Formats: sequence, C-alpha cells, structure tokens
Amino acid sequence: MGELEKKATQKSSIENQILVIFGSNGDLAKRKLLPAIFQLYLDNLLPEQFAVIGAGSQEKTEETNRVDVRNSMMEFARIGSTENPDKLNLFLEHVYYQKVNNQIEEDFGLLKNYIDNLSEKLIIKQNIIYYFSIPPFLYEVVAAHLVKFGLNTEENGWKRIIVEKPFGYSLDTAVDLDKKLRAGFNEDQIYRIDHYLGKETVQNIMVTRFSNGFFEPIWNRKYVDRVEITASEKIGVGARGGYYDTSGAIRDMIQNHLLQVLAVVAMEPPSIFDSESIRNESVKVLQSLRPIKPTEIAENVVRGQYIETMVDDVIQKGYRQEKDVKPNSKTETFVALRVFVDNWRWSEIPFYIRTGKCLPERVTEVVIHLKPAPHQLFKQRCVAQSTNMIILRISPDAGVAVDFGMKIPGAGYKVQNVNMAFHYSDLASNKISEAYERLLLDCMIGDSTLYARADAVKASWKFVDPILQAWKNNSEIPLYFYEANTWGPKEANALFNNKELKWRAPFKKFKTE
Ligand code: BG6
Repeated sequence: MGELEKKATQKSSIENQILVIFGSNGDLAKRKLLPAIFQLYLDNLLPEQFAVIGAGSQEKTEETNRVDVRNSMMEFARIGSTENPDKLNLFLEHVYYQKVNNQIEEDFGLLKNYIDNLSEKLIIKQNIIYYFSIPPFLYEVVAAHLVKFGLNTEENGWKRIIVEKPFGYSLDTAVDLDKKLRAGFNEDQIYRIDHYLGKETVQNIMVTRFSNGFFEPIWNRKYVDRVEITASEKIGVGARGGYYDTSGAIRDMIQNHLLQVLAVVAMEPPSIFDSESIRNESVKVLQSLRPIKPTEIAENVVRGQYIETMVDDVIQKGYRQEKDVKPNSKTETFVALRVFVDNWRWSEIPFYIRTGKCLPERVTEVVIHLKPAPHQLFKQRCVAQSTNMIILRISPDAGVAVDFGMKIPGAGYKVQNVNMAFHYSDLASNKISEAYERLLLDCMIGDSTLYARADAVKASWKFVDPILQAWKNNSEIPLYFYEANTWGPKEANALFNNKELKWRAPFKKFKTE
C-alpha cells in the first residue's frame, strides 16, 4: 500500500474544507497545484465537501476559470484528464474563482464575502488553507490583508497558510517575514513548503536508515569517509532568468532543498515518529553546521556560471545572454561546498554538496562513501579501485544501491567493484506520487512533518548568509565559468581533502561506476 493510499484510510480524518490559491493563474498553480489536487480527487482522497477557490488578479467568470483549469489539466495532469473526462467534469464543479488583486485591501473584503456565501451555500465549515503561490514580496501583504478582514480567525474553522519558497532573501529578511506572518498566524498554522521533503525518495532515506538494522552501526564518523549530495540539472535557467538572477544556486537550491536533504541524511533517530520529534532532530543538524568564516569561503565554496556552448550541434546560450539576466551578472548557476556537521556523530566528516544548471545529467542523489577496509589485502589485485558506497538515488530511476568489491571468478584473487541495486520501479504496483500531492494532502490533514519549521529555515539561512555576504563584499572571490554539458568548474574537485578524490559522475540510468 503506497503512502497516499494509506492516507486514504485516514480519509475520515480529512475535514471538509476550502483551498484558496492566491496566484491561481500562475505557472505553479497551473502546472503543479491544480493537477495535484485533481490527482487527489481521482485517488478519492479529498473530503466529501471541498472547494478550490482560485484567487487571481485576472477578471474571469466562474465559467472562464473552469475552462482555464480544464486546459491546465489536459496539459499538466499526471493521469486522468483524458482517461477520465467525467471525473474531470465532476472535479470542475468544485472549482471557483474570485478576482483578488493582492495589493488592494478591499479585494480581501470581497473575498471574505465570497467565502461566506460559498461556505453557506455548500454547507462547508470555514476550514481554510490559503496557498501563497505568489511572488515572495507579497507574502506579508496578503497575510496582513487576511488578518484585516478576520480571515485568519478560527472561530468557524481552522485556518492554515502554505508559503512557497523562497522564505526570505537572507537571514534578516527571513526573520522579518516570519515576524510578520506570526502577527496573524501561529507557527502551527504556517506550512513552509519545500517540495524536496515531499519526494517519496527523500522520505525513503528515513525509512532506509531507521528501519534497517544493518545501516545503523555504520552511519557515523567511524565508518563514513564522506558524503556527497548532488542535484544537477541539464537545462539552463530558460524563461526564469528574472527570478534566478536575484536568487542564484545557493538561495534556489542549497538554503532549502539540499540542506533539508542533508538534515535527513545526518539526523539522529527521533524517539517517536511524529512531526515535532522529526523536526526537532533535523533542526539540530542545521544548527550544527559549521559556519564558514569569510576568509575561508574561497577554499570551501566554489561558484560557477555557464557560458555559451555548442551541445549536440545546438547552441546553449551563456547565462549572461539569457532573457532578463544582467549582462555582467555574477549570479552563480553552479555551486559546490564542503560542509561539516559539528556534532558527536559526524565530527570532521565532510559533506560535499553541489548543484548546478546546464550539467550533463538531471540527477539528484546522495552518496555515502564508506571508509576502506582497515588493511587492503587485495590492493594489488583490484581491477578497479575498490569502493564501498551507499547510493540513495532521489531521481531519476529512484532507488538505493550498495557498491562493493567482489572476487572475479577464476584463478587468483582479482577484485572488481559490483553493486546491488534496488529500483523503485520494481515495486510495480505502486505509483510514486508527486511531491505536491503528498504535501497538499498532509496540510489538509494538519500534518506538518514534511514542512520546514521556522527554526530550521532560520538555521539554514544562518549558514548560507555569510557565503552570500562574502561574495557580495569581496570581489576577489572567483566566479568560475564552465561550459554547458560539463560537471561545472574543475575547481570544484579541489574541495576534496584528498587530492585523489573527485566528484562521482552520476548517470541517468541508476548504476554505479
Ligand atoms: C526549484 C528550483 O525549487 O527546484 C528550480 O527553483 C529547480 O530551479 C527545482 O529546477 C528542482 O526541483 P526538482 O524536483 O525538479 O529536482
């Protein structure tokens, strides 16, 4: 039984409710949110009574909105829109629209009337999720407007807000934003979404670690030599240059997704499996990250930017030539870091993290490199360097592999590296659900385990802030240029303590070297 199906058994615990999507005409809503809700509907996971209210700045009637939502489903829904036209029609009956200009206070008065009328008509209690699928500068504006019209009060039903990343632009702005949201909502009403935590394969890291006896003894500084975390993408920034140029790889991927993955890999087992305990453990990891001093940035962090390159007879634009990117931009499209978790379990064990655009493969994985056997008896007889790795492949071809040396059959003692791999696709009966499906459903149930807590967001900003400051203030710190379809600047290999080491080159098909 898949996770979502298990949740179905909790369906009775999903109260009737309303989902209001601010920014409902935007890309995220069309591509991810609405298709995710439709999928939950197809999977029979939504409560008896529910309504999805699109709140966007465009003038639309209920009917034109339904046509738009239908079109988005045809284009982006995972399955079902063409296979289940009747279901789609029924789903659309739950979809509503109210024009809201987020900057205009009075529009929230209109929204309140709309919600009051709808909840009366449909006889739905005002249990409401407000999804902020809007530019970050509007988060505090919308939150304040909701408060102004009492749309945050819980007398007639619970209220929750889901806030997209980026949560802040720096430590100070994140703290400030939190303060502003907390003026109208308690911490347990704020759901900070990080879609990486919604990935089935990221959750599986916890299961791999905490439900199998044989990983536990070796998951520490005594047996682990180093940990590599890679999230590489094949494409460039494309049409997102405007956003990306104010963000860069650290804010876009490291501060949130990859530090959360690191926390899941490095955390202590929680005493019980509930939201508070799990998040208590993961925040401890983030708080244990060794700060990188301004003078040490260059030796611990390598930044890069892709340049114009011919890839398979097609020109990949350089980052500076992308739409809405400043022609002299120093924004990093690649970053690699050496990070230490200063605690008992991981003392002095380096975690190497890298992410970038225009790299050779789209791959996300964690590699636990184990220390070699204490005495290399077969050293002279190895066909390839004997390595012991545990590979946690997040995507694509999700799975787990263990890599180790075996004797090649025949005379003598020649040793070759082999691997044992489990592929998620082998669990044929289970479809892997999309991160947004899982996360939306969790919020509907009121389970915040897979959402980032304020202290975790703050701790990760505290770690990345000095790096961003140093880059801003010290023009001596190099920005390396790299060609598209390469693994970023070669300087990233210099991060390894041991000069013989280099980053693993992952392949699309899940196999080990
Ligand atoms: C987003 C970033 O949060 O995550 C994108 O803004 C990035 O730049 C994306 O491409 C990667 O997510 P995934 O799930 O495709 O690995």
